[in-house]
Order: sequence, then C-alpha cells, then structure tokens
Amino acid sequence: MKIVVIGGTGLIGSKLVTKLKQQRHEAVAASPSRGVNTITGEGVAAAMEGASVVVDVSNSPSFEYGAALEFFQTSTRNLQAAETAAGVGHHVALSVVGTDRLAESGYFRAKVAQEALIKASSIPYSIVHATQFFEFIKSIADAATDGNTVRLAPVLFQPMASDDVATAVARTAVAAPVNGVIEVGGPERFRFDGLIRHFLSSRNDPREVVADPEARYFGGMLAERTLIPEDDAMLGETRFDDWLKQSATGKEVAGFEHFSAQSSPSSRTPAPRRRRGDERRNEAAPTRRWISRGTFGRRSSCVLRRQ
Ligand SMILES: NC(=O)c1ccc[n+]([C@@H]2O[C@H](COP(=O)([O-])OP(=O)(O)OC[C@H]3O[C@@H](n4cnc5c(N)ncnc54)[C@H](OP(=O)(O)O)[C@@H]3O)[C@@H](O)[C@H]2O)c1
Repeated sequence: MKIVVIGGTGLIGSKLVTKLKQQRHEAVAASPSRGVNTITGEGVAAAMEGASVVVDVSNSPSFEYGAALEFFQTSTRNLQAAETAAGVGHHVALSVVGTDRLAESGYFRAKVAQEALIKASSIPYSIVHATQFFEFIKSIADAATDGNTVRLAPVLFQPMASDDVATAVARTAVAAPVNGVIEVGGPERFRFDGLIRHFLSSRNDPREVVADPEARYFGGMLAERTLIPEDDAMLGETRFDDWLKQSATGKEVAGFEHFSAQSSPSSRTPAPRRRRGDERRNEAAPTRRWISRGTFGRRSSCVLRRQ
C-alpha cells in the first residue's frame, strides 16, 4: 500500500517511514527537504499519486499562535484538496492528548483548528492523540525556565517514547479509519515537576524545579488530568528510566513488541508500588494488558513486532 508521510523527515515521521517500509508498504517521506511543501503546494499532487493513505506528522516551524494557525490550516486544506483529487481513502494526523483542554495556548488552539478541518472533511480520518514525547522533555524544561528556576504545575504526566508513538501511528495508518480520536500514552504516570527534576538531575543540570500550581504549560493552565489520556488509551511499553539510560549512551531505545490498552477494572493487574521518597512515581500509575481494543475495531491480539 502506498502511504505518504507528510513530515516524513521529522522525529516521528522518519521512524514511521522506516516502520512502514519494514512492513513492506511503499512509504514516501514527504517534506520540504524532499521537495514536498504543503504550504506552497510544491510536489504535493505528485506525491499523492496512487496513495491509499496520507499520514500528517508535520509540525509548524513556529509555536506562536498566528504562525501555527496559518501553518496547520493552510497545510491541511492543501492536503485535503490533493487527497480528494487523488482519491486517498484515509487521512491520519498526529496531535496531542489534552489539546482541547489547552485552549489558552496558541499552539494548541492551532492544533484544534487542524483537527476541526479534518473532522469536517469528507475524507475518512483517524486522529492520533499522543502524550508528550520523552525527547521533548528538555524543551519543556527550557520553556518553563526563568533564570535557574523551572516552574511546573505538579499535575499528572504520562509521557512516551517517540518510537512508541511511531508504532501507534503506523498501526493506525494500516488499519481502517476510525473517524475519531485514538489516544496513546506512556506506560507510567508521574508528577510533572518530579519527572522533570529527575530528568535534569540525570543530566547534571543545576536548574531547580519548583512545583507551582499556577505555572503554565506553553500558555495553558494545567489541571490534574489535563496532560494524561483516558483510561482506555493504548500504552507504549518504553519506561522512562530505560529510555534515559539508553539515551545517555547515545543508543536508540529499541522498538517495542507490544502496545497495550489500559485495562478495564475486571482485568486490572496491580499498579507498580510506590517507592518511599520516589516522587516521580505516582500511585495512579496505569495498569496494562496485552490486547488492544476499541481503537482498532474489534479486540485483537496486539503484537507489534520490534521494527
Ligand atoms: N512534541 C511532543 O511531545 C508531541 C506530542 C504529541 C504530538 N505531537 C505532534 O507530533 C507532530 C510531529 O512532531 P515532531 O516532533 O515529529 O516534528 P518535527 O521533528 O519537528 O518534524 C516536523 C516535520 O514537518 C515537516 N514540515 C515542516 N514544514 C513543512 C511543510 N511546509 N510541508 C511539509 N512538511 C513540513 C519537516 O520537514 P523538513 O525536515 O523538511 O523541514 C519535518 O519533517 C506535531 O504535529 C506535533 O503536534 C508532538
């Protein structure tokens, strides 16, 4: 199947293209550096020829509201016109868990606008909402830094490895459109401030992290559950400390064989026990089981081979 990956040279896009090719799909990395620009339209129609699916994992070069809005709206409209002309049957887009709860943030308002265009279109679609990537955590700390202090709201936080995000998006791209939102998150829940403190300390970064309930996240106020997915979200398998160890050695954390769904009460396994003094871990850590459901239609054995 031909799958065009818009933003196929980015963090998620490059992993996605690799995974789809390993599954023997014709995955095309489309981005300005490959001659495909969804803002100017350059190369878009040619890239779409013969495509069954278009996956949009591009990102706005600017997070400022006006620029991000212009980017996501223009890009999505241009893609939709080209997809309609080419007869593309499935539009997949990557967005962020909690987007609709972060309306005070310009970037997230722009993502809401992108999603609204997708939902209003006649092209069948799937929107994947992922939690924050582990790889984005340093940028979060930097954005919240004032002098030597990093201010963060002590809310729940459930980040995930970019490799697990790419696995979830690849799985979505080859499945039938859900015409709705699929949520994916990491396998562990933390306190936002605690995890960033742990991350900085692991990097010998001297910045002090202060828990401040009023601290904003890219302009948005955070409530306890703003950043975390619902209980039926699909979960990646990569644990933060494993990723941290591997990224410190410069090695990519290997792909993950399974994607799990947070379980229903009847099938719950015990949550990891909180260790004394370990403020990173939270007793509300999600539970897991090794099947997928809902999201991908009927219940099915959910084995995503290392890719
Ligand atoms: N950061 C997070 O924690 C997080 C969490 C959940 C969801 N997301 C979402 O994940 C998506 C991808 O993020 P990412 O970090 O993988 O992005 P990224 O690494 O910054 O990559 C952005 C990609 O967009 C491409 N691009 C930029 N302008 C374009 C244009 N005019 N036409 C076509 N392609 C264009 C870039 O191409 P070039 O390389 O050629 O410039 C690049 O391939 C974003 O939509 C974001 O909202 C992010």
